[in-house]
Order: sequence, then C-alpha cells, then structure tokens
Amino acid sequence: MAKKKALKAKGKTKAPKSKARKPVTRPVLKVVAKKPNGGGLPKVSSKPWGKDGKALDGVKILDFTHVQSGPTCTQLLAWFGADVIKVERPGSGDITRGQLQDVPGVDSLYFTMLNHNKRSITLDSKSKQGMKVLERLVKTCDVLVENFAPGALDRMGLTWEHIHALNPRMIVASVKGFGPGPYEDCKVYENVAQCAGGSASTTGFHDGLPLVTGAQIGDSGTGLHLALGIVSALYQRKRTGRGQRVLTAMQDGVLNLCRVKLRDQQRLAHGPLNEYTQFGQGIPFGEAVPRAGNDSGGGQPGVILKCKGWETDPNAYIYFITQAPVWEKICDLIGQPDWKTHPDYAKPPARLPRLKEIFERIEQWTKTKTKFEVMNECNAFDIPVGPILSMKELAEEPSLRHTGTVVEVDHPTRGKYLSVGNPIKLSDSITEVERSPLLGEHTDEILTKVLKFTPREIAEIKASGATGHAPQVSGSRAQAAE
Ligand code: COA
Repeated sequence: MAKKKALKAKGKTKAPKSKARKPVTRPVLKVVAKKPNGGGLPKVSSKPWGKDGKALDGVKILDFTHVQSGPTCTQLLAWFGADVIKVERPGSGDITRGQLQDVPGVDSLYFTMLNHNKRSITLDSKSKQGMKVLERLVKTCDVLVENFAPGALDRMGLTWEHIHALNPRMIVASVKGFGPGPYEDCKVYENVAQCAGGSASTTGFHDGLPLVTGAQIGDSGTGLHLALGIVSALYQRKRTGRGQRVLTAMQDGVLNLCRVKLRDQQRLAHGPLNEYTQFGQGIPFGEAVPRAGNDSGGGQPGVILKCKGWETDPNAYIYFITQAPVWEKICDLIGQPDWKTHPDYAKPPARLPRLKEIFERIEQWTKTKTKFEVMNECNAFDIPVGPILSMKELAEEPSLRHTGTVVEVDHPTRGKYLSVGNPIKLSDSITEVERSPLLGEHTDEILTKVLKFTPREIAEIKASGATGHAPQVSGSRAQAAE
C-alpha cells in the first residue's frame, strides 16, 4: 500500500493488464549515456580550484640554458609546475649572474629575474664525470632545453642521435639565432634578432634611423615561442610515446611578431599605405615597408600626444587613436562637435590627409589634463587610449602587485627585490614565484635524490672536480613574498 502511494505521488501508476491485445514489440533503443570523461580523460577533479597540483607537475626539465632567451622559456615552465634543473658551469655559472651587477658579489637582477623556481647544479660538461651525470639527467628528464651557439651541444657529445638513444622519450628544445640557411652558424643576441627579423627596419620614424625596441622580443619573445613548442611536444608524446626536436629561431620569432609588417609589404604592391602618417604628408613610398613612427599596426590612425606636465615629465604622454566607431564621441569630448558632420572630418577617408591638424586639435585638449585624466575621461566613452607608463609607475601599480604580475621576492644574498611574475594566469594552476637558486645550490640534492647516485659515486664525481664547489646555504629555498 505504501509502495502504491509512493508511485502515485511520482505520477507513476501501473497500467491495467489488457487481455485482448498482445503487447507490441518495438526494437529496444539502447540509450548509451555519453561518457562525461571522453577522450580518456580522468574523472573531473572535485578538489578546490588551484588545489589539485600544477599544470606541468611531474615534468622534469634539464635546463641547459643561459642569458635570456632559454631562461625565459624554462622559467615559464617552472611557473607551470615543471621541475627545472639548471645545469651551470662550475665557478661562473650562467654568465648573467655577473652581468650588470648592482650589488658587488651578488647574483645580478638580470639573472635573478630570469631564473625563478629553478634548481641549480654545477657540472663541467666537458669532463668525463660531468658527462656521466649529464647522461643520467638525460635519462631522467622529459625535456632538454638549450640555447648554446650552433653546434655547441654536439661538440659536448650530446647529439640528437645520442640523446635519443639514451632516452627516446626526450624532447630536445633549442633556441638558435637563425634557422637552417646561410646564417645558421651565427651567434645571435637580442638586437641582432630584432634587426634580422624585420623589427628594426619597421621601427622608428620614416626619416630617422632604424630603431630597436625596449621589449625583448628577440630573447624573451623567442623563449615564449619555445615554451609553446615544448608543451605541444609533451602533448604529442602522450600519443606517440616519443620525444622530438623543437627549434625556435630568433629571426623567425621576431618575424612572427612583425607579421603585420609583412602584410603591409604585400599591400604596397597595390598602392601606397594610406593609413600611414607619411601618406597624409604626401611623402612617397619606396619599395619596402617604411618605419611608421607611432602609427598603429591595425590601420587606425594613432599618435602620441602631450599631456599636462609634459614639459618636465618625460612620460606625460598618451597614445591616442582616432578609431572610426568612436569618432563622434571624440569630437564631443574635445569640444569640436561640428566635425561630426563636416565633410572634411566626418568620414575616415576625408580625415586621412588632415590627421596632423586633427591630432593637433586633440592635443590642445590632452595638454589640459594628466594622462590618467585623459584615460578616465576617454574610457568613460569607450575611446581606447594608452597612457605612457614609466617603469616606476608600473613597479608601484597596486593592481599589478595584486595579480602577481609584479612580485616582491626575497633573496638570501640580495634581500628583497621586485620581479615580473607569471604573465599567464591559469585558474587551476596558481603560480608561486620562488627566488632563483644560488650557483650549484642544489648539486647534492640532485645527485642524491633525483639521480640516485650512491655516496661512493658522488664522492668520485666530486673528487674529479666535475661539480666544482657548491655554496653552503642555510635553510631551503625562501618563498617569494607576493
Ligand atoms: N661545462 C663546460 N662547458 C660548458 C658548459 C658547462 N656546464 N656550459 C657551456 N659550456 C661551453 C659550451 O660547450 C661552449 O663550448 P665550445 O664553444 O667549446 O663548444 C661554450 O661553453 C660557450 O657556449 P656558447 O653558447 O658559444 O656561449 P657564448 O657566450 O660564446 O655565446 C650566445 C652566447 C648567446 C651568443 C650563443 O650561445 C648563441 O648564439 N646562442 C643561441 C642564440 C641565443 O639564444 N641567443 C640569445 C641569448 S639571450
């Protein structure tokens, strides 16, 4: 009785049995529930966000990088949770430890800001015992990252063939200045890459010298490209089981970032680039894409304008774009509402030859306000503008501290310093910025715990001088104070 009631309550009642009719047999439709974890993925984690490990947990990186391009890459991988073991030459280590030193005898900011969250082992790769350790590292790690001069890794004896024979799963990732071709043997630094990748020829004013940019698009930019290549190779390895080579040439990385300029090179064949300031000035175009000053790469006319205080503050400027969809709002804001309907100003093509006069008028307005006032007033109307922020302003910006993009880090010999944290935020893999290692700080730890050498073997390796003398540090790696 209780069961019947329950069925009724659910709206389900037993159908009365029919004596006359035979039940109709219909094909049984099997309802196969769609697996929520298709593609072989594990069960959806129920742990709180950010509490289920890091994106690259379990990945071991043999970090054979130096200077900037390679270290940028491995630092990112470390921030995503990879165990990054930096191999350095005994005695000196990564050359940047001693470059641009602000505090004598202390690892430079150049080094500390590019090598967070890594462990350091010192090894002379050219000694027999050093190579023995390196080969054990090759067998133990998932990825070898290097940015030596072309051929240096081969000369050490670590050819791709040898590495692949030792560990067929290993991914070997390299930064080189140039890809295969006439310049493949050249050593390359940041500004060489900016020049060879098309950035310098398109940066600066059309009547001035080619310029390099402050952003390290050759080094850090290529490191970023390499990191993506490595993560993709790790993903492919899940299917194929084997490693592969990943090569990023700095010239290629810079050219990739200059993609819009190769676009304009081809547009030139069909006539002048009429959104370039030089078009409005009546200056003819040559055969190659010219330097476009502060023109925007997207084709919207834009310039840098003075703001209140420009006479004494070198950064009291704002980037102003006369974007077509917000033109009428700009006219209202600067007190020139007649331009909304005037045939010389209302439409973008009519404005092109008058951009100088238009921006002079807008500057009359921006000069009466600070760059932050211009920013606020324009953004209230969705007019995009860019205040020229100094490094001092960025270092002091509370919102960047809040997001961890600018972090304060404590270092045992340097003390507190500012660094740029991980610019890529993952909601389930939270970055904790740790200080860079001292030279050879983790040599013993790595030989023992990672590579599992016996005490006798370690004594032999050390006696040979292959690891040099590691510094004694009290306590383990200090956490960064975010
Ligand atoms: N133990 C023993 N020897 C070591 C070592 C170690 N732990 N680590 C490196 N070395 C050796 C190398 O084997 C090489 O020796 P070799 O020339 O006899 O074969 C030597 O140190 C120097 O390496 P190299 O890469 O040529 O350094 P460099 O200071 O002369 O050149 C660069 C620096 C950056 C120009 C060069 O490495 C390069 O072009 N790299 C590729 C592009 C790049 O990344 N550039 C940007 C850097 S930010």
